Amino acid sequence: MRLGVNIDHVATVRQARRAREPEPVTAAALAELAGADGITVHLRGDRRHMQDRDLRMLREVVATRLNVEMAATDEMMSIACDIKPGLVTLVPEEPGEVTTTGGLDVAAHQASVHAAVRRLQDAGISASIFVDAVPGQVSSAVSTGATAIEINTGPYADASAPQQAVELAKVQQAARQARDGGLEVLGGHGLTYVNVGPIAAIRDIVELNIGHSIIARAVLVGLERAVREMVALVR
Ligand code: PXP
Repeated sequence: MRLGVNIDHVATVRQARRAREPEPVTAAALAELAGADGITVHLRGDRRHMQDRDLRMLREVVATRLNVEMAATDEMMSIACDIKPGLVTLVPEEPGEVTTTGGLDVAAHQASVHAAVRRLQDAGISASIFVDAVPGQVSSAVSTGATAIEINTGPYADASAPQQAVELAKVQQAARQARDGGLEVLGGHGLTYVNVGPIAAIRDIVELNIGHSIIARAVLVGLERAVREMVALVR
């Protein structure tokens, strides 16, 4: 199982002050030094965290695989074809949403998703689609010709204890269906240090993308050192 680290929140902290730090590219290098197998970022239409400049810098520096999440819009496809990350994950994007709220409805947008996948692949970029663990969505994703899918683990992560086993089974079945369809299978959304175990045990999934929980922990485990260093300077 590979780990892709989503570093969007690093850019969120920087953009909160429109400051120079923290630089996502530095976070990416540290994540890789710690063993991350990939770096994931989401370039949103409103540019509220990652900026186009970040993508260019990450493309230069990331030594593992750069996975860029984006909506399947003309603007985003042009940027992807220009930057050429290792992987582009097509995600739905709603104006004003706090985070991605669900998988892309591939079944309803088959033609446009297929066109985006083709455009990426013609530019030599592997294409993945973020989908809910629903059989119809997985089969639609397979028929777009994408290289991979990322299964939305959000419903599993958000489920209360009795329902969690049901949601886990849906992810397991979707992973098997996608792998049988010839896709590389990733998973992500809402995974934490507490709930990751059963998802990490799914052998049909080869990579998990985790962001919020890792950055939240980094803030806490890093705070003591950061304060000590400032205390030393102030005193
Ligand atoms: N996968 C996708 C498609 C996402 O949009 C996100 C959030 O940006 C993640 C994975 C990571 O989710 P989390 O931040 O909850 O770990």
